[in-house]
Amino acid sequence: MTLDEIRDQIGATPTQIGMILGSGLGQMAGEMQDAIKISFDEIDGMPQSGVSGHAGALVVGNLEGVRCAILSGRVHYYEQGHAAAMRPALELLAQLGAESVLLTNSAGSTQQEMPPGSLMALDDHINYSGLNPLIGDGGDARFVGMVDAYDPALLARLHAAAQAEGITLHQGVYAWFSGPSFETPAEIRMIRTMGADAVGMSTVPETILARRIGLKVAAISCITNYGAGMTTTNNSHAETLEESAKARGAFIQLVRAYIRSFA
Ligand code: HPA
Repeated sequence: MTLDEIRDQIGATPTQIGMILGSGLGQMAGEMQDAIKISFDEIDGMPQSGVSGHAGALVVGNLEGVRCAILSGRVHYYEQGHAAAMRPALELLAQLGAESVLLTNSAGSTQQEMPPGSLMALDDHINYSGLNPLIGDGGDARFVGMVDAYDPALLARLHAAAQAEGITLHQGVYAWFSGPSFETPAEIRMIRTMGADAVGMSTVPETILARRIGLKVAAISCITNYGAGMTTTNNSHAETLEESAKARGAFIQLVRAYIRSFA
């Protein structure tokens, strides 16, 4: 399906906000009214995700009276070794009219005072993977400035939304590890020392791509576990899905209130 064909299906109303949903958070797409869902495999150039908990569809509809386009399901670097996998999807959001994206993920916490079930707004990141989705990109525009990559005005909106809903919203730095294996306890101790509050396997390449494309970024981590070595149990994807399901209620409430602020 081409861009014109997508527009024929979803209508001419421009999309205001784009969203990418993390592991176990896909239910958010079901919250939209008059939603039209187009599977990624029907859209030209779209990446295919094979991770359970990631549906892989573009869902366009209204949330709190705001036109939103959700990318339900994302493709991670660890699937094909392709850091720019989400580029066509983010470009599509921009082409549909989005000015900003809300990136969401499930993440581990490095901080005792941010237990599983917490929500954290990203104010910065550490690209610990050393990978970059803009490698191979051309022109001077590839040299993207990363100060305030997480837009301060959008961050303020997230906090205002959390406060209005009585939801505790932490704020911190997210470190990107490529995955798919989880971190070692030594890596968690290292990254905490380096200033990371949360660790995960996504979001950072999307933030870099979004800034390259000119989309503003807000991002939320749903904390599903303590980092490796902080508890007696080992990490697992089952735990990520289980714990993100528990935090889903507050997460949806926060996202709704954030979106409402654009109405
Ligand atoms: N590490 C990396 N990615 C994750 C984690 C984690 O502890 N939890 C959820 N996604």
